[in-house]
Amino acid sequence: MTFLARADGELQLDGVSLAEVARRFGTPCYVYSRAAIESAYRAFDEGLAGIDHTVCYAVKANSNLAVLDILRRLGAGFDIVSGGELARVLAAGGSAGRVVFSGVGKSEAEIRAALAAGIACFNVESEPELERLDGLAGAAGVRAPVALRVNPDVDARTHPYISTGLAGNKFGIPHAAALAAYRRAARLPNLRVAGIGTHIGSQILDTAPLDEALERVLELVDALASEDIGLEHLDLGGGLGIRYRDEEPPDIRAYCGRLARRLAGRGLRLLLEPGRAIVGAAGVLLTRVEYLKLDKARRFAVVDASMSELLRPALYESWHEIVPVSTAASGRETARYDVVGPVCESSDVLGLDRDLAVRQGDLLAILAAGAYGMAMSSNYNSRPRPCEVLVDRGAAVEVRSRERVEALYALERTLPAG
Ligand code: LLP
Repeated sequence: MTFLARADGELQLDGVSLAEVARRFGTPCYVYSRAAIESAYRAFDEGLAGIDHTVCYAVKANSNLAVLDILRRLGAGFDIVSGGELARVLAAGGSAGRVVFSGVGKSEAEIRAALAAGIACFNVESEPELERLDGLAGAAGVRAPVALRVNPDVDARTHPYISTGLAGNKFGIPHAAALAAYRRAARLPNLRVAGIGTHIGSQILDTAPLDEALERVLELVDALASEDIGLEHLDLGGGLGIRYRDEEPPDIRAYCGRLARRLAGRGLRLLLEPGRAIVGAAGVLLTRVEYLKLDKARRFAVVDASMSELLRPALYESWHEIVPVSTAASGRETARYDVVGPVCESSDVLGLDRDLAVRQGDLLAILAAGAYGMAMSSNYNSRPRPCEVLVDRGAAVEVRSRERVEALYALERTLPAG
């Protein structure tokens, strides 16, 4: 389903004019569609309807409180990777009992905070982490629910920077070491073995590696059962891809339906941790053309967004579609541009070789920017972070203000005189 449409040449998100959003809130500006987020969440939730499940939205993809709140209201759980993300979930009214905590480097303070909040499960990624968790749970007088994140050693066939399920990767406990780690966990007094987890990568377009990972994990579930280590849940992580250009992402409902059938009768609750597939297509980054610059070899459209606001093209050479917000104006000639930002790096690119009919001052929309956009933004070059706007039933609501310049250095101080 697409939530972007043109009316009289004007790009709209859920019926709201993006030119109007830019006029009211300025650029650069992230704009998200509530309906698009809800529709993607429901595809997971309804696809899994046949079995006991929790869709734990991966907060890292887009952690704006309004986004978390929308998902909380639909009954989502949350996958977090830091104390900061836990605080965000709680601030958005999310319940700790629906939170799972992933990540290879949980600090003592983060573990304590998660134990105090009473989260649903720690996805433990190493034996030393098991020991640390056991000690901290003992000190807090609680038993910590744990799942081991198993690295199944399957190739997710995605970008190497976002592939996490291969041997030699920092993530998870190697498949071959998993049984021993479970035995250890089962003996530790302050832990309760609750589940098993895996996550093999992101922007996955072919579900075969996910199926393979599932089978590898089910083998372990059976091996554990034969040792009387029973599990309550299986967490298959996130990773389903979306269309940025011409990819053919898996159909969420169909994929979830297959999962539900595969797991039927096993008595295991299924957890998924989708991030990108829920928010990616729901967001655009609005930007304005500052200058058209003609070089001997290339033409540049210099816009007011940059790698500070949207890092993915610079970091992964990823493609985001870039389209004019208005196609109504006449007299523009199409030319091939590199769309670049004002940041002082040659990698500050938003899109290369784009055929655009633009003039200085025109608005552009960078599509499929709802996931890992604002979440990976920085203040590089002392650029205040952009504002974020949610389109909700025909109204545009600012859900994060544009950062003020003074906020950039509010935590800094100069040395005393002398
Ligand atoms: N669960 C775990 C344990 C993860 O590490 C991740 C993502 C997810 C769930 C959510 O994955 P998703 O459904 O969004 O694919 N910055 C990169 C993506 C990094 C993904 C990191 N882990 C990008 O912009 O493509």
